[in-house]
Amino acid sequence: MFAKINAESRIVIIDDVPTNLRLLDSCLRAVGLRNITTFSDSAQGLDWLLSNAWDLVLLDLDMPAPDGFEILDRLNKRDRTESPVIIVTALNDQQNRRKGLEKGANDFISKPIDLPEVLLRVRNCLELSQAAKQLRDVNAELERKVELRTVQLASSYKAISSSLNRAASYRDDDTGQHIVRIGESSALLAKAIGMPSPWCELMKMAAPLHDIGKIGIADAILQKPGALTPQERQIMQEHARIGYEILRDPHGSPLTDLAAEIALAHHERWDGTGYPNGLQGTQIPLSARIVSICDVYDAIRMPRAYKQAWDVERSRRFITDQAGTQFDPFLVDIFSSLFDEIDRLRSPDGSEA
Ligand code: C2E
Ligand code: SIN
Ligand code: SIN
Ligand code: SIN
Ligand code: FE
Repeated sequence: MFAKINAESRIVIIDDVPTNLRLLDSCLRAVGLRNITTFSDSAQGLDWLLSNAWDLVLLDLDMPAPDGFEILDRLNKRDRTESPVIIVTALNDQQNRRKGLEKGANDFISKPIDLPEVLLRVRNCLELSQAAKQLRDVNAELERKVELRTVQLASSYKAISSSLNRAASYRDDDTGQHIVRIGESSALLAKAIGMPSPWCELMKMAAPLHDIGKIGIADAILQKPGALTPQERQIMQEHARIGYEILRDPHGSPLTDLAAEIALAHHERWDGTGYPNGLQGTQIPLSARIVSICDVYDAIRMPRAYKQAWDVERSRRFITDQAGTQFDPFLVDIFSSLFDEIDRLRSPDGSEA
């Protein structure tokens, strides 16, 4: 009957009548429970309970102070599921029994003591407390694992993301700062239009992957010092679809799904003349409309193999001029209010980071 119960369960019996103590003690020892502490002095018992770990208390209610009710009150802050209390009451004393249960006792045993009943109730309470403790341990273990996984995920994300950066860095002087800033400015813009924080965080991680498809484009085109021929331009534009194919995954995560959506659509234009699908207005996913502005604002301010860097005024004017043609005018409006903040991402004094 006690097969599932740990024989080392710490059981405390408090009863001012020594014969009751001995009876309960020997009854529990008879079924194999070994770790039993008894108190006929209720004050000592209470002290012990308050300063030791235990699994179950059998508590007489009717004792010189502190009586069982007072002890229940003092124990009340403890978790009754993990540390149950069985009160011992006279058979005909319904009122006190109810009061004891109200004060948090888990169960009761009637006097005169019926041993089979005692054993059943003790077993039930110990099973309950064991299960509660196991559940707590499992939860703690789960929490620890989730924490560990979160840390692992964050560091694998960083590792993957910097590998991808290296893979996509096709210029010797490219430190990858451009794409980091695009993550940060995209998150800022997303936040400023009131998107929820988790989405903004995801944008911060997904946006830097927007140009990953460039790893599929030949260096001869990517690093060409001059303007592209129409045919080269067409090949170059494939980077959007290539990025999408790289990031798209049937078992994708919210991060890769968002990154794939961005990679595909970040060169679409509000007026419908962009690539690869010629989407128009809000047909373009919000994520891509955001990254598009952030990408271009950062790209035009960088020197490229084929062009000089633009200064701040010209860059800002370009962005605002393109509201409604290249870019979502609503987003440009908000983005303009963030110009200073976004420029500070380059470095505190506004110079190239
Ligand atoms: P990117 O250099 O990262 O530029 C991203 C986007 O920023 C460009 O997308 C474009 O919308 C904008 N952008 C960058 N520089 C300029 C500029 O000088 N003027 C204007 N008006 N917009 C600019 P886009 O045009 O679809 O180009 C995609 C990628 O193709 C560029 O990425 C770059 O890697 C390459 N690319 C584009 N044009 C040329 C070119 O004339 N020569 C070479 N070698 N590469 C080019
Ligand atoms: C990179 O992908 O690392 C840089 C992209 C860019 O400079 O346009
Ligand atoms: C939004 O504020 O959620 C959408 C913004 C937009 O569609 O441009
Ligand atoms: C998106 O999930 O990026 C689309 C939301 C929108 O376009 O408002
Ligand atoms: Fe691009």
